[in-house]
Amino acid sequence: MGLFTGKKGIVLGIANDRSIAWAITEHLHREGAEIGFTHLPDTSDRPKNQNKVGKLVDPIGAKFLVPMDVCNDEHIAAVIEKAVETFGKIDFIVHSIAFAPPADLTGPTYACSRDGFKTAMEISAYSLLAVAGAAKKKDALSANASLLTLSYFGGEEVIPGYNLMGICKAALECCVKYLASELGPAGARVNAISAGPVRTISAMGVGDFKQMLDLYDSVAPMRRNITADEVGKMGMVLLSDLSSGITGEVVHVDCGFSIMGAPPADFMNKAAGTS
Ligand SMILES: NC(=O)c1ccc[n+]([C@@H]2O[C@H](COP(=O)([O-])OP(=O)(O)OC[C@H]3O[C@@H](n4cnc5c(N)ncnc54)[C@H](O)[C@@H]3O)[C@@H](O)[C@H]2O)c1
Repeated sequence: MGLFTGKKGIVLGIANDRSIAWAITEHLHREGAEIGFTHLPDTSDRPKNQNKVGKLVDPIGAKFLVPMDVCNDEHIAAVIEKAVETFGKIDFIVHSIAFAPPADLTGPTYACSRDGFKTAMEISAYSLLAVAGAAKKKDALSANASLLTLSYFGGEEVIPGYNLMGICKAALECCVKYLASELGPAGARVNAISAGPVRTISAMGVGDFKQMLDLYDSVAPMRRNITADEVGKMGMVLLSDLSSGITGEVVHVDCGFSIMGAPPADFMNKAAGTS
């Protein structure tokens, strides 16, 4: 019997097999979860997004795969409706979604457009509230439901290149705390993972991404970066009863990068050419 035997939920935010949502899904599936999925709606007659996600989730017995744009309340309501129809109650929700218009992401933050700011915030932060609200409205969450979202350290401190998305992550992490406090009385939990950099489509849109990766190798206490699988494992833990007493938390899966207040001596010596 797996940790998720008898548990049912939805995973929002798989684009391909590099997506963090997929790394989490692999662990949920291995532990026996029943899962429904969404894909970004296709804009042409060719169901490109549906096919790409379907190729991954069909072989693991997806309970459903439906289109969803988080900017559209009807789409969100339809996903929750589908989950209720399929599962009765929802035990877990993975929210692994972010977007900012590329022109607004390049920085400086003071140069981002009003519309770009709104779009980035709507998709990357507000959408967590919208999904939780839609589930609450339908009374869809089970007594021990667990919600999980994905953040990055650039929401806590300045990471050059992360720019507007850092502002969105700060908002998202605050949403986690308010939601945890509001959904907690009914038993539901809400947490985030603050993950180190992972090569995904979204990550490629972040400026200086290669530099970010190198920094983890030389500055993180473990002198390496994390793997997507390590995020997947912790995602599974936070969605499972193993973390039954944890809510409103942002758990760092970053090989310790976020605890450093200054670079270590070996990094400094290398930078100064003295090692
Ligand atoms: N990759 C990293 O280095 C990293 C690090 C920390 C946190 N994160 C966060 O992890 C989450 C997942 O990103 P990822 O790196 O796996 O990249 P990804 O590109 O694989 O996933 C992002 C997902 O967001 C979805 N999305 C974008 N706009 C949407 C919309 N309007 N409606 C519905 N879905 C929409 C995309 O379809 C995609 O599936 C994001 O919140 C990201 O900020 C990523």
